[in-house]
Amino acid sequence: MKGIILAGGTATRLFPLTATTSKQLLPIYDRQMIFYPLNVLVKGGIKDILIIIAPEHSGHFVNLLGSIFDKHDIHLEFKIQKIPRGLADAFIVGENFIGNDNVTMILGDNIFEDDFSEDIKNFKSGAKVFAVKVPDPERLGVVVFNKQMQAIKIVEKPKEWISDYAVAGLYIYDNRVIKAAKTMKPSGRGEIEITDLNSWYLERGELEVGLVKGKWLDAGTFDSLLEAGNYVKEKKLYENFHPAINEAIKEFNEELKMLTKKKL
Ligand code: G1P
Repeated sequence: MKGIILAGGTATRLFPLTATTSKQLLPIYDRQMIFYPLNVLVKGGIKDILIIIAPEHSGHFVNLLGSIFDKHDIHLEFKIQKIPRGLADAFIVGENFIGNDNVTMILGDNIFEDDFSEDIKNFKSGAKVFAVKVPDPERLGVVVFNKQMQAIKIVEKPKEWISDYAVAGLYIYDNRVIKAAKTMKPSGRGEIEITDLNSWYLERGELEVGLVKGKWLDAGTFDSLLEAGNYVKEKKLYENFHPAINEAIKEFNEELKMLTKKKL
């Protein structure tokens, strides 16, 4: 299993914060946002992770993450996406990186309370996504279930209400996702949609939809960014990190302190 974190985009809703760095490098309490999606993948046993970033603040990602994981046997790669072409584009941009493996993709601004390690480790084939009940489904990908709670339809940002269940930003696919992504046509907003990819698997009866039980936050607005930080602090979610990530952050901090001392 390979992992991809989507950390591109311009995040205009968070201007001026994102004028000086990437959204995924903004703080969620005591650490940068990117550590949350990274934690989901590392806890799932994934050792090879591609981080797709925008060109503007790419150096910031490398400064923070460029060398801290090597000795923990976690290999990070970076790829620059000049123009965001949609979530499904990650599988085209990441084709060589994925090779013949399966892939778990997570959005760089998604913070989950749940632990998905078993879902990732036990994945065999097809696709698995996760639905969460939300008050504002019209701004997300939405999944309709039948009475047996089987997914029957997925629609991106439906104008009319069809269901309260949104598809959260964590997706597990088998290797066919690369070929499928290449057949996708851009939507009205000019992007190749992850929802079309999910429908591709659904039509073949190969999409499994799990339910998110704990809190799900996409920290894309001032309010949700603040809410995420407060929630993490209140529930002590920073305690849920894989030891390799905690150690890497600790080592990074110690090195930084030492270098600062030397400079002074
Ligand atoms: C994207 C997807 C949508 C999904 C959401 C999760 O929305 O298109 O299906 O529900 O992420 O955060 P976007 O951020 O592109 O509007």
